Amino acid sequence: MRPLIIFFSRAGENYVNGDLIHLETGNTERLVSFLREATDADVFRIEPEEPYPEDYMECTRVSKEEIRTGARPDLRAYLDSAESYDNIVVAFPIWWGTCPNIVLTQLERLNLRGKRIWPVITHEGSGSRKAVKALKKACPGARVMGSLAVHGAEVSVAEETVKAWGASRLSREENTTR
Ligand SMILES: Cc1cc2nc3c(=O)[nH]c(=O)nc-3n(C[C@H](O)[C@H](O)[C@H](O)COP(=O)(O)O)c2cc1C
Repeated sequence: MRPLIIFFSRAGENYVNGDLIHLETGNTERLVSFLREATDADVFRIEPEEPYPEDYMECTRVSKEEIRTGARPDLRAYLDSAESYDNIVVAFPIWWGTCPNIVLTQLERLNLRGKRIWPVITHEGSGSRKAVKALKKACPGARVMGSLAVHGAEVSVAEETVKAWGASRLSREENTTR
């Protein structure tokens, strides 16, 4: 059975090693492309109905307000079911030390009981504990497995690490022997 990758990533202005730069492709999206190559996974991209600001400071303001109000921002399209998958990667950037609310919008609509959830996180220095806790809450009855966390600025040099992680956890052969 193929794995599924559900991911969110935002191109635009972002901090990379302390400098604000414009990313044509988000770090998480690039990481997901490596993972897909290594695992032949199906991929669902979470896209907000209202795009997040390209301006970094403006985006931090919007996302902070989402956290404050417990918002569940609308998506352009929803994944209605993940029934046909056993292994599901949920990949996203750390925002304000945790998982962006828009990822929770999608996860909370799915019945993920009994599924293996593999958190994959990009960040600029924060740990992933709070994000993993948020995922566990959003996926009742799922088994949240060991996460992969990659410094966003180093995604391009982490290709082999990411592929090895994916192949060992998610390749179809590996799963038949579990
Ligand atoms: C709104 C916002 C909030 C962020 N908050 C954090 C944070 O709390 N901790 C951290 O390590 N990185 C933070 N970052 C940096 C991102 O996690 C990091 O750049 C990530 O790799 C971006 O992935 P993306 O390009 O796929 O969106 C934040 C970035 C944005 C845009």
